[in-house]
Amino acid sequence: MNRVAVDLGDRSYEVRIGPGLIARAGEEIAPLLRRPRVAIVTEETVAARHLPALTAALQAAGIASAALALPPGEGTKNWENLARCTEWLLEQKVERRDVVLAFGGGVIGDLVGFSAAILRRGVRFVQLPTTLLAQVDSSVGGKTGINTAQGKNLVGAFHQPSLVLADISVLDTLPDRDFLSGYGEVVKYGLLGDAAFFGWLERDGPAIRAGDPAARLRAVTRSVEMKAGIVSRDETEEGERALLNLGHTFCHALEKATGYSDRLLHGEGVAIGCTLAFALSARLGLCSQEEPSRVRAHLAAMGMKVDLADIPGDLPGAEALIALMGQDKKVVDGRLRFILARGIGRAFVAEDVPTEAVRAVLDDALSGRRPT
Ligand SMILES: NC(=O)c1ccc[n+]([C@@H]2O[C@H](COP(=O)([O-])OP(=O)(O)OC[C@H]3O[C@@H](n4cnc5c(N)ncnc54)[C@H](O)[C@@H]3O)[C@@H](O)[C@H]2O)c1
Repeated sequence: MNRVAVDLGDRSYEVRIGPGLIARAGEEIAPLLRRPRVAIVTEETVAARHLPALTAALQAAGIASAALALPPGEGTKNWENLARCTEWLLEQKVERRDVVLAFGGGVIGDLVGFSAAILRRGVRFVQLPTTLLAQVDSSVGGKTGINTAQGKNLVGAFHQPSLVLADISVLDTLPDRDFLSGYGEVVKYGLLGDAAFFGWLERDGPAIRAGDPAARLRAVTRSVEMKAGIVSRDETEEGERALLNLGHTFCHALEKATGYSDRLLHGEGVAIGCTLAFALSARLGLCSQEEPSRVRAHLAAMGMKVDLADIPGDLPGAEALIALMGQDKKVVDGRLRFILARGIGRAFVAEDVPTEAVRAVLDDALSGRRPT
């Protein structure tokens, strides 16, 4: 088992990563408990595959549990399920000193973390992430929240977990498409700050995809180390944490344009967004043309979506996509802000990026398809 510390003063916690961690969950969680009882919130797909193992592990350590399984999918991250989850936790008589377990992918982590943040003005919670995306990204760093009619993740709170248990064995049941979507975030860490890690991914990415436990352990651990380091230095995104948004300005516009449907999963949008961010960096003369080509080559070799043409169905034109970027909550004072790169592993925050350059990159990317 690997351990990565998230250093945030009295809100510090550990991310533990390894195979078989669900089977050890009881002993890992027991030291946090003031009484031997936890409430688990999960979703139906994860519950069907992994909940019996979790409850058995808790029981073996003498910990009683009750579980609520919400419907799976992004649509669950809404007001209705926030109310349902929070009221269920109250019915379970969860108190200030108790611990709630969030057992699922990023949807459950975000929703249950937010519920824990507002329940009795804040109760502790443990993240048990079950997707690659949740293990390398959403379970670490304390951003929690829900979606509303106005957009994604617009309502939420910073609420750090007390512990994260990332069991890489549960990734074995994850569908390949969801695995690759999470891999988009793994690649992002290499691209934003660790060229050697990206080089290793180029070599060992296929082994990671095929399920090699040692390769998966290394990929998750290095990703978490990078996220933990950035979050420890900039918890509330005043500066450096923005680097984690590499590819996200493009991604958010594409997610909006595709209606947050399964035409484009979040991590797929991040991967395409990274290729566009590197194309934009090359166009602005910040890096050589070989760098975007290398990014694209790796994503293509992994069987991932690389181009706008890989997104099924019609997309709006460049101007409409830029307008969708303007609605992004990361826009500061109405200016378009991008994470650009001076090369692989050398990302930085760029304010005031010329709109013409963005338009030209999108026009290139859209060429060959008919804008609607
Ligand atoms: N808080 C953050 O910092 C942060 C960062 C990135 C993304 N997010 C959020 O994360 C969410 C996306 O997370 P996600 O990709 O994990 O989505 P998800 O939770 O919907 O999981 C993806 C799919 O995998 C299934 N699944 C989960 N674990 C499984 C397993 N072990 N075996 C089989 N199937 C399994 C789910 O039922 C679902 O169909 C988005 O809402 C996004 O906004 C949050």
